[in-house]
Amino acid sequence: MARSSLILDANDALASRIGTQGLSPSDLDAMSPAASRAWESLSKRWSRGEVGFWKLPSDESVSAPAIAVGEELAERFENVVVLGIGGSSLGAKAAVAALGGPYRDLLPRGQRQGARVFFPDNSDPSTFAALLDCIDLGSTCFLAITKSGGTAETLSQLMIVRERLGESRLAQQLVAITDPAGGALRKLAHEQGWRTLPVPPDVGGRYSVLSAVGLTPIAAAGFDAGALCRGADAMRRRCEAPSLRENPALLLAAIHHAFDRRGRGVHVLFSYADALREFGDWFVQLWAESLGKSEEAGPTPVRAVGATDQHSMLQLLMEGPQDKLVTFLAVEEPVADLAIPPVWKDRASFDLLAGKSLGGLLDAERRGTTAALAQAGRPSLTLRLPRVDAPALGELFFLWEAATASAGALYGVDPFDQPGVEASKRLTKALMSGEPMPGAQTAEDPAFILR
Ligand code: PA5
Repeated sequence: MARSSLILDANDALASRIGTQGLSPSDLDAMSPAASRAWESLSKRWSRGEVGFWKLPSDESVSAPAIAVGEELAERFENVVVLGIGGSSLGAKAAVAALGGPYRDLLPRGQRQGARVFFPDNSDPSTFAALLDCIDLGSTCFLAITKSGGTAETLSQLMIVRERLGESRLAQQLVAITDPAGGALRKLAHEQGWRTLPVPPDVGGRYSVLSAVGLTPIAAAGFDAGALCRGADAMRRRCEAPSLRENPALLLAAIHHAFDRRGRGVHVLFSYADALREFGDWFVQLWAESLGKSEEAGPTPVRAVGATDQHSMLQLLMEGPQDKLVTFLAVEEPVADLAIPPVWKDRASFDLLAGKSLGGLLDAERRGTTAALAQAGRPSLTLRLPRVDAPALGELFFLWEAATASAGALYGVDPFDQPGVEASKRLTKALMSGEPMPGAQTAEDPAFILR
């Protein structure tokens, strides 16, 4: 059984460290009753099996076929293209980026495990055309991933691929990952006899990375999707503890909620590892789409990457409005490190770098930034991973999913629906069908357009 190794350090959110903007012992006591109620309502649901994502880390009936298909694709294909958007793309994209790094696809097949996996994600034709034009379609597998089976961006990409490959080649080079029973894609896949994998009906898009939605592309890229699940399962056990002092998801949710109540509704995930850049995109979607549900409640998630954003956002974080809470992601052991050679060591500015390492510099930048925020009386949290590997990433995915579900209970919103997104999908479909758009501008509208 895997052990959880992720650490949540909340010291820099405490008044004893940062002064009046921090949480005092009485603030922490005051958070407890609401946190207990949130835990009770959520735990009732997961123990009855009603919170779909909660079961995924240990559900081999979901993970085993998903991983087996991914491993087979890793052997058979040079490229895998994920046709999917939002929750049907961002989790696997974050994992492949984290585990493979930015330049993995430049390596020749023999030096790289698995297929090259691409996530066009958006329906911008320039990106999609560029991708189709520069990969060998004959050695490419397409994963059409859509829980609902009816998302316009995904279906239109699939239709373009069908045109380029032809029907019989498509049938050999496609896996549809969708609802087991309903939706337009499931119906078509059934009629065409395509290979399919199910998305469990009770698991929504942004909580689906530990189903075939994430596991198949991750395994296709040659990464250990089973280890990802085991890491997530270790975190699941921690997230089932009832108290704030033991349950990192509950503590993360309660602290974010408490600071939001004090006007800090901008929640920044500041990763000090390029490997976790795309994880930040996944977090933004999860937090925004799950919690942005009423005019009174709805934190604004922001992604930042250190040290790059020290030269961009840090000024705002240090001296701008007191409306932010920063969570640093710290990695103790970088995937690779580079020694900074001891050249020019008798010159100012070079002397302090000579003989050190780039990893040491990045870590010093993170610690310096955390300390600077604390000295300025601005709160932060730190999530510390020993390294970026599959188990740690699994922990991180599950932690934020459980924290989001807990935060939903604290904010009093349903973290599993997305009515605002559905409305936009409906109106887009109406426009594409040529129906008039309710509320659209007309020639009679007063002119307030600069040309
Ligand atoms: O989290 C969600 O539910 C959404 O972000 C969906 O993943 C996204 O809208 C894509 O939907 P679908 O998977 O049905 O194509």
